[in-house]
Amino acid sequence: MIWRIVVALSLWNEAMELFLDAAELDEITRYKDFIDGVTTNPSIMSKYKLSEHDSLIKEICKVVAGPVSVEVISQKYDDMVREGQKISKICANVCVKLPCTLDGLRACRALSIKGIPTNLTLCFSSAQALLAAKCGATYVSPFIGRLDDNGYDGTLLVEEIVEIFYAQGYETKVLAASVRNLQHVIQSALVGASAITMPPMILKQCFQHHLTTLGLERFAEDVQKNK
Ligand code: E4P
Repeated sequence: MIWRIVVALSLWNEAMELFLDAAELDEITRYKDFIDGVTTNPSIMSKYKLSEHDSLIKEICKVVAGPVSVEVISQKYDDMVREGQKISKICANVCVKLPCTLDGLRACRALSIKGIPTNLTLCFSSAQALLAAKCGATYVSPFIGRLDDNGYDGTLLVEEIVEIFYAQGYETKVLAASVRNLQHVIQSALVGASAITMPPMILKQCFQHHLTTLGLERFAEDVQKNK
């Protein structure tokens, strides 16, 4: 418990960044006032023609000033570095997403040396996160929902990585990803994740509450009574 408080206090001045896990421009525009950035992945981008990807990312970057994560499709080191450099030229705020594999980690090191921001994705263990930090990753993304789906505790992994980075003095930010419910959001905030990304459906659930809806209905009824 004391350890958790120490970690929380050390992160006191750094509010958790909130990213939208989506590429739909209308959704991103709808929520632009409270999102700090966007994350995409090949599945999200597969809804669009490959030839449209760069222009879509440019449009997203016009709407949000913060990091926009775009994932490489290549799986081999040389190709990843080449593709990562290409992606980084789309816009100044693009963050290159790489998988937590040997090639991905090596590519992370190469791109970090060039000053290109990176987001190490598909992270399912603290050991992977440790290597991502060692390679200079800007963000590392533990996948909470997919871990839960497979019988593990996703938020526990987020907590463990936050504590390891604090203990070891790594500046890599822990980005809670694969978020499926409000409990994931709250738990990630409680354990001190630096950032969280969530699909529009979960972001919607963050501001929706049946008692707020009910309260508004009642206020509206009372206003009518006095007319
Ligand atoms: C994160 O960057 C990923 O795009 C995303 O959170 C994956 O979520 P999923 O497991 O719901 O596909």
